Amino acid sequence: MSKQGNISVSVIRRLPRYYRFLGELSDAGISKISSRELAEKMRLTASQIRQDLNCFGGFGQQGYGYNVSELRQEIGHILGVDSRKKVILIGAGNLGTALAMHIDFEKSGCRLIGIFDSNKNIEGQELAGVKITDVARLEQFCSAEQPDIAVLCTPKDVTKDLVKRLTGVNVRSFWNFSHYDINVDFDDIVVENVHLSDSLMILSYGVNNT
Ligand code: NAI
Repeated sequence: MSKQGNISVSVIRRLPRYYRFLGELSDAGISKISSRELAEKMRLTASQIRQDLNCFGGFGQQGYGYNVSELRQEIGHILGVDSRKKVILIGAGNLGTALAMHIDFEKSGCRLIGIFDSNKNIEGQELAGVKITDVARLEQFCSAEQPDIAVLCTPKDVTKDLVKRLTGVNVRSFWNFSHYDINVDFDDIVVENVHLSDSLMILSYGVNNT
């Protein structure tokens, strides 16, 4: 993800954690919370929380704190999880299967509507209630269904061609697990690259520097 209006990416990256945490508070029957209490629970500082939430105009009331469900709803709105995006997944191998089966797309405001692969042997099989379709039908499907997001779980060497095909039918947002760097060849797209091993390397750095 490169930019989001005028709000810094680092603030946006903290919002899913607020959203998840407020959901847990709400489930536990907690209806209001002060920034100090929220800070203690989330192990952040109260001023960090106030600063983050002030980026959106601030939701708290002096002396009252935050209304948990309203704040969660607002953050969900900012993140766009209340707008039901259509998602397709390309590459139903090990990683694609794991994502289709274990990611709660609905919880993030998304709906998995199509899965594509080039392997004819798995065509017609179902993952998470969605049939695997031959990738040859990608354009036809996208023109009819107009998905908002494509999840890319394909080998690096085929991903550029797939992105070309997808942008050709107006799919411009990618949750990219393939190690192909989409931004190098394509403009006017929204990409969130995920490299799980980056996280492991950061952990490794932490281990070496404690
Ligand atoms: P896999 O080989 O199990 O699955 C790849 C799938 O893509 C296969 O089902 C294959 O038939 C399909 N495919 C190949 N060419 C295609 C095309 N042109 N159109 C549609 N489908 C096509 O591989 P795995 O383990 O699922 O990994 C997939 C990719 O994700 C690899 O590039 C791998 O390096 C990467 N990866 C990335 C991770 C990350 O953290 N970002 C973690 C693990 C894997």
